[in-house]
Amino acid sequence: MATQDELKQQVAAAAVSYVKGGIIGVGTGSTANFFIDELAKVKSKIDGAVASSEATAKRLKAHGIEVFDLNSVDGMEIYVDGADEVTEHLHMLKGGGGALTREKIVAACAKKFICIADASKLVPVMGKFPLPVEVIPMARSYVARELVKLGGQPKLRDFTTDNGNVILDVFGLQILNPVELEAKINQIVGVVTNGLFAARPANVLLLATAEGVKTYE
Ligand code: A5P
Repeated sequence: MATQDELKQQVAAAAVSYVKGGIIGVGTGSTANFFIDELAKVKSKIDGAVASSEATAKRLKAHGIEVFDLNSVDGMEIYVDGADEVTEHLHMLKGGGGALTREKIVAACAKKFICIADASKLVPVMGKFPLPVEVIPMARSYVARELVKLGGQPKLRDFTTDNGNVILDVFGLQILNPVELEAKINQIVGVVTNGLFAARPANVLLLATAEGVKTYE
């Protein structure tokens, strides 16, 4: 039976078939890292990449892939990234690695979001994985109190984001309406963004299973 890392590697390799050229938006995390390694094998086909975190930029550059500032790029065909949880509706919960805000920004500039995940990430209802919320530091207590009103149990992560902010991981949510909850949390003053990617779900989910890579779209 394949290990989780082997499944991540398989799904990362499958995502390369969506790489047709131009500039590629690249996510953050262990599955995205496998994708970067696969992308390096076809780097002569592309002009470069936009990174969703400092860690991703570093790995891309180490492979000799040029990293562009998002403001110098006129959109992208695809953005490829992992997820902490994903549903069959292609709604995602992300941010386990703390890069949710830049991920959401880069994804917004891409025509297609390709989500790459191993089968353990597919869930019927999201929320078992704590929902990350990026918060301006001075607002963290206020935002935490508002998140409690929404039924969650926020816990401050010992981490500073690439944007200099903090993360509240919200436990105990059963996310039955991800589109509504994403909007509600984003309306709390002091929230930069939250890890629900539901208003703009993935366009394609490549899921690595014991029976091979399955495509949902
Ligand atoms: C990074 O902030 C996250 O959104 C990642 O995309 C997510 O945590 C998936 O990471 P893994 O591929 O490491 O599970």
